[in-house]
Amino acid sequence: MTSAAAISLDEVSKVFPGSVSPAVNRLTLTIPQGQILALVGPSGCGKTTTLRMINRLEEPTAGQITVLGHDHRSAKPHELRRNIGYVIQQIGLFPHHSVRRNMSAVLELLKWSPDRIEQRINELTDLLGLDPALLDRYPSELSGGQQQRVGVARALAADPPILLMDEPYSAVDPVIRKHLHSELLQVQARVTKTIVIVTHDIDEAITLADQVVVMAEGGTIEQQGTPEELLAHPATEFVREFLGRERGLRRLGLRTVGQILRSPSRSSVPADLEPEDLAPEDLARVTADTPLREALDTILTSGQTRAVVCADGQKIGFITIEHIAEALRP
Ligand SMILES: Nc1ncnc2c1ncn2[C@@H]1O[C@H](COP(=O)(O)OP(=O)(O)OP(=O)(O)O)[C@@H](O)[C@H]1O
Ligand SMILES: [Mg+2]
Repeated sequence: MTSAAAISLDEVSKVFPGSVSPAVNRLTLTIPQGQILALVGPSGCGKTTTLRMINRLEEPTAGQITVLGHDHRSAKPHELRRNIGYVIQQIGLFPHHSVRRNMSAVLELLKWSPDRIEQRINELTDLLGLDPALLDRYPSELSGGQQQRVGVARALAADPPILLMDEPYSAVDPVIRKHLHSELLQVQARVTKTIVIVTHDIDEAITLADQVVVMAEGGTIEQQGTPEELLAHPATEFVREFLGRERGLRRLGLRTVGQILRSPSRSSVPADLEPEDLAPEDLARVTADTPLREALDTILTSGQTRAVVCADGQKIGFITIEHIAEALRP
């Protein structure tokens, strides 16, 4: 992971014709390469406008946008198509085209040969875990989650280094959404892109993003930081409010048992607390990759104050409510 900027906006403003106040007012923002950045903020604060300016679907009224080291104004349309994939709000698949045609649209514009397009569609189908039988259907014949995957596949078709996603998961239910989140993280682990994802859902931002930007009316940045930084130190009342209650619990969701288990080996278990000496059937059980939020719930639900940590059926240590509380201290 590198911290070089993939996209930077310098004092960028957008005033729509006929509007008095700017939709985006002097926005300065650096989007690091190879990371997922979540843009969150209330409805109408300028998130979509910002993505559309990055994708040159809107021209800024003032300011400068640099993408992959080049001034945006000099970019040619085919360079934009190759460099930036865009998953628009409400997915926006072409309804009269098959899934296959939806996925190949950009590649046809880029004049790829039919053989190469076919090969790329197979790769994308595989990457996103799409059933190949869906390729010849129309978007209306897919579930919301399937449409969403096709939307991402279409945006990734030309293998762009940058992916812009505007509320891509808002139309799918929470269970599917969770599944799609882990899929996106798996895709990111395989093909490392610079991803900007707009969302209203703070938990989605926390789950997916390396960096979170909280925006207020007029594209004003209230805070930019890692999920941990925001949750631990919200910079303003607006951010605090936006993050909602349960900031402590959300922070616990960012860490796993393994991260606070001093050394997850048998020999490291404190002498006064040999796991062999405990009655394991009475204890809650967790593993090293259990998120602390879940571990706390497991402990509380079982009416205990601690849980045994297991690996491959072996007890490797244990964790107490105290340990979990310590994880939140600076
Ligand atoms: N084409 C347009 N013409 C005039 N005003 C516009 C246009 N597009 C957006 N706006 C206005 O610009 C502001 C920002 O809109 P934008 O779509 O960027 O908000 P958003 O943060 O994406 O909101 P949401 O979360 O509801 O999608 C709003 O006040 C909106 O009404
Ligand atoms: Mg929007």
